[in-house]
Amino acid sequence: MSPFLLTRTLPEDATDAALRADVLHGLTGTPKTLPPKWFYDAHGSELFEKITELPEYYPTRAEREILLARAGEIALASGARTLVELGSGSSEKTRHLLDALPGLHTYVPVDVSESALTQAGQALAAERPGLDVHALIADFTGSLTLPDTPGPRLVAFLGGTIGNLLPAERAAFLASVRALLSPGDALLLGTDLVKDESVLVAAYDDAAGVTAAFNKNVLSVVNRELEADFDPDAFDHVALWDTEQEWIEMRLRSRAAQTVKIPALDLAVHFARGEELRTEVSAKFREDGVRAELASAGFALTHWWTDAEGRFALSLSVAGQDR
Ligand code: SAH
Ligand code: AVI
Repeated sequence: MSPFLLTRTLPEDATDAALRADVLHGLTGTPKTLPPKWFYDAHGSELFEKITELPEYYPTRAEREILLARAGEIALASGARTLVELGSGSSEKTRHLLDALPGLHTYVPVDVSESALTQAGQALAAERPGLDVHALIADFTGSLTLPDTPGPRLVAFLGGTIGNLLPAERAAFLASVRALLSPGDALLLGTDLVKDESVLVAAYDDAAGVTAAFNKNVLSVVNRELEADFDPDAFDHVALWDTEQEWIEMRLRSRAAQTVKIPALDLAVHFARGEELRTEVSAKFREDGVRAELASAGFALTHWWTDAEGRFALSLSVAGQDR
């Protein structure tokens, strides 16, 4: 069994303070919003895994297809000795990459979900003698400090999770990833692609209602952590395609006029009937846009691979000279 190390880079009270700040800011603004990172308590992480198996939710299957086909090329191009994975979740698809990277010394999964990180990290360390697993409980939009491990480094950001950041957040995030790396290190980025609206909306509004439960889970997180009295049944799940921004928006629509109490913030939040709370954007991309956003952050795109149906892309980029 290989060493498994779990490091909490954010003390628990900092996470609590961040949730309070996000809820106060998001529920007192117009329109009301909450950041998607708060979906992922243990139950939210389980619901996300269920989403990945839904017939309508194609991104996970499409990305796995590309990883299976290209893992050897990724290994050869990156020569990685350290693989850092941001928003690693269950690390399920990552196994294909780990299988293909023979010289890998350390795997560093980074996630806010302690349950997902511990389960995945412990299983990988047990299965793969010779691989150090150093998991970080951390917010990848904050300032990350990576363990001192051998290069070259490959940072993987899979699943299309970059689409859950707003454009300005994406630019800041990519610049901060570049700052973690040395020239020649690589970034493997999963991006879901623009496609027919009906396919996209179905992926975020599945017939079995799993995505609706995932969306409403954020209300349960706020109830538990901040003693709020949200009734998840008093909200409807909404998924719509914004053609201008080219993103899916998930919202929770209040079924009636209601006031929600959040005692930990000494706050009462009024919702009008039909008022919507935005809980997530999931941007969809085009090759030119991805290339340009990467270039602005100091990465040169070297490979662009899609699944056979052209639904999802994986790109490999190399970090340029320090600026
Ligand atoms: N990479 C996996 C999981 C994607 S789900 C896959 O492709 O299937 C998104 C993951 O990112 C979840 O595990 C969630 O807990 C994590 N996450 C979301 N926002 C985060 C943030 N700001 N910092 C760190 N992890 C985050
Ligand atoms: C994690 N992320 C890429 C998912 C997505 O597709 O935007 C989260 C999700 N939201 C609803 N379904 C899945």
